[in-house]
Amino acid sequence: MSIERIGVVGGGLMGSGIAEVNARAGLSVVVVEVTEDAATAAHGRIESSLQRAVDRGKLSETDRDAALDAINVTTDLNALADRQLVVEAASEKESVKLDLFTRIGQILQDPDAILASNTSSIPIVKLGAASGRADRVMGVHFFNPAPVMKLVELIPSLTTSDKTLDRMRGYVSETLGKQPIDATDRAGFIVNSLLVPYLLSAIRMYEAGYASAKDIDNGMVLGCGHPMGPLALSDLIGLDTIKAIGESMYEEFKEPLYSPPPLLDRMVDAGLLGKKSGQGFYPYP
Ligand code: 3HC
Repeated sequence: MSIERIGVVGGGLMGSGIAEVNARAGLSVVVVEVTEDAATAAHGRIESSLQRAVDRGKLSETDRDAALDAINVTTDLNALADRQLVVEAASEKESVKLDLFTRIGQILQDPDAILASNTSSIPIVKLGAASGRADRVMGVHFFNPAPVMKLVELIPSLTTSDKTLDRMRGYVSETLGKQPIDATDRAGFIVNSLLVPYLLSAIRMYEAGYASAKDIDNGMVLGCGHPMGPLALSDLIGLDTIKAIGESMYEEFKEPLYSPPPLLDRMVDAGLLGKKSGQGFYPYP
């Protein structure tokens, strides 16, 4: 029952990273994107990330070629039909995810196939209900950059079967060699429940003019030993993603600290999304 054929829906920052991790672990990977341009961009992201690993002496050219051969990027959702596991990593919008879970639930042929979401905050139980296979749906949440971060959160919903959870635990720890932790189906799970209010607090601090972006970030890097400061990390994750997660968490708990500050809203409206758009709190020429 080990997983050998995986599908990844969405080839953005997280989706392309998840595809790379799986291809490097020897799985056959189908990545589905919405447009040809997005598919080409996803393929390019995976290719340059693999090349970076080769350049750093972490991956042989032969293994890079094998990983690229294992990945098929397409715009056809039906290409997921023979997959044993599909990880949905589309944008963090409930309507988009519900629609995908309904459609993919009908496309999957293998009765044991598992449909997972990389969502950070949308209720897994709703995705399960939309899929028509609620016992084989759960959250499998990777961290950015997926090829580097060792953690994966496992989030069964009220309707996920023990068998599904066991299979995903084995897949994450044995097939991918990552560390799973178990979380409950509550917006934010473990990591984002702690991380997002911290990032939003840093944005509020910057918005209020307490300090410069550089000094806020240096404070946490040099004073607390974090690998990067909260504003640089927000740029890495994507400001639209942080806003969407904050909104879902606020919707669920009505905790003001989860509510995105106006500056974050305005930056997202302006298309200043962080590293992926070339400008966030910092420029990315
Ligand atoms: N893809 C693949 N590999 C990458 C990478 C990427 N995008 N970015 C960095 N790496 C690799 C490098 O190749 C290098 O590998 P090596 O040590 O084997 O040679 C290693 O990571 C370190 O990279 P660098 O030397 O270039 O840079 P840094 O030392 O500054 O590390 C970082 C970069 C790994 C991003 C580090 O700054 C870091 O850990 N930052 C925090 C990231 C974090 O907190 N992520 C969680 C975000 S929350 C989330 O994802 C949840 C979601 O729901 C919002």
